[in-house]
Amino acid sequence: PKDVGVLAMEVYFPRRCISEAELEKFNGVSKGKYTIGLGQEYMALTDDREDINSFALNAVTGLLEKYSIDPKSIGRIDVGTETIIDKSKSVKTHLMDLFTDAGNFDIEGVDSKTACYGSTAALFNAINWIESTSWDGRNAIVVAGDIAVYAEGSARPAGGAGACAMLLGPNAPIVFEPIHGTYMSNTYDFYKPNLSSEYPEVDGPVSVVTYIAAFDEAYSRFREKTARQLNLCQINGHSNDLVDNVDKLDPKAAFSLQDVDYALFHSPYGKQVIKGHARMLFNDFRSAPNAPQFADIPNPQAFLAALQEESLSDKNIEKTFIAVSKISYAQKTDPAMACSKRLGNMYTGSLYGCLASLVSNVEPSQLRNTRVSMFAFGGGCAASFFTLRVKGDTTEIKEKMNLMHRFAAMKVVPCQEFIDALALRMKNHNAVSYTPEGSIDNIWPGAFYLASVDSKYRRKYAKA
Ligand code: ACO
Repeated sequence: PKDVGVLAMEVYFPRRCISEAELEKFNGVSKGKYTIGLGQEYMALTDDREDINSFALNAVTGLLEKYSIDPKSIGRIDVGTETIIDKSKSVKTHLMDLFTDAGNFDIEGVDSKTACYGSTAALFNAINWIESTSWDGRNAIVVAGDIAVYAEGSARPAGGAGACAMLLGPNAPIVFEPIHGTYMSNTYDFYKPNLSSEYPEVDGPVSVVTYIAAFDEAYSRFREKTARQLNLCQINGHSNDLVDNVDKLDPKAAFSLQDVDYALFHSPYGKQVIKGHARMLFNDFRSAPNAPQFADIPNPQAFLAALQEESLSDKNIEKTFIAVSKISYAQKTDPAMACSKRLGNMYTGSLYGCLASLVSNVEPSQLRNTRVSMFAFGGGCAASFFTLRVKGDTTEIKEKMNLMHRFAAMKVVPCQEFIDALALRMKNHNAVSYTPEGSIDNIWPGAFYLASVDSKYRRKYAKA
């Protein structure tokens, strides 16, 4: 199969959100702490009326219905999530309900887990299946979604909720390229060891350094593999050009921010993405300091000499490269931030929400023939840097998702509703024999919600 990629996309999100500016007042923190310090605008929320199964059911139903997809045409579904409500039974099995009437039970794939990275593992699985000898000619669906909630404290404003569903197959308008740069290691920055609580154990400062460290490694591996593909290493090896030109020495210079039209980053909150974009530029600078776009970097020798480990939390590096990357951030990354701004962190859905935002915010004629980089990150930790090309027309996806109009139709509710919703979720987490207490008025008309959990923990869903 040729040009394997995204044929269709849908984003599901709850009906309610809160304003982060209001949350600053509500929590009595300094003005700007969440809106400027974290770069947050709104955050979606839900109570015990929704869970990850209903989120996924809604995302996949939206995909199937809006694009009139024949349920029999699906041969694989992979789900990425870290909103675990069952240690054994996958979210994917609940999605099989949507294929029963069509008599399609021959659908491979289950759930993938590792913080916000499970969606990217799911995506790679689905692409690999389509490109493999086991492929049976049908399309795949990847679902990426979470309900991101934190205990009271500095992480709480970095929550959010939502789920993306993507239809994957050959001859797609959005085509994944083959090179992946990956970094995985054993870290305790973000994890969920307490199964009686939805809240993660999170070491905030360590998590932000882990994000940057993982970016450096994944991006470096991606650039080295790109260099190998371009055979640049060999050319450099044979170069007689004795060598004031540092650029040519580093194979990583084979790829930079300048090679993409858009650079998308996993978005735990807006500010981290600004830092990710700046870090990409810093990496480019270290590999090719003589490149013209770095002519105005103040005191370049100090930045070149900085030790890798120390550079990860060096505020001067961060500040300098955020300033240098202001224009490229506005051009290449901000158009992909709409979901993050309205919904907050969707964990596994966050990076794919960036892709959905890009498709929604950029005119299809302008998006066509562009190249996009993707940085996926999950605490614990797992990260990949990869790229895609927009080869075809994205008009249908933009129109069917209708993201901006649907965002405008969300209810911005008082912060107390957020606190009440969290209390309900906490009260009924792992509960048995119960009917959720949250109001069905807060469910979009026609959407699935959790109707009940019986004495054997079996969950039933209904439609509003
Ligand atoms: N006005 C403007 N800026 C402010 C204000 C204010 N009133 N108050 C604080 N700030 C700035 C700080 O200067 C700081 O800026 P900097 O990032 O440029 O240094 C920023 O806001 C953050 O403030 P801190 O005091 O450093 O940190 P805070 O206590 O707000 O916690 C953290 C931030 C650690 C990210 C927390 O929200 C958290 O733990 N989040 C969850 C984990 C997370 O999302 N990690 C990211 C990667 S992992 C993942 O995807 C889950």
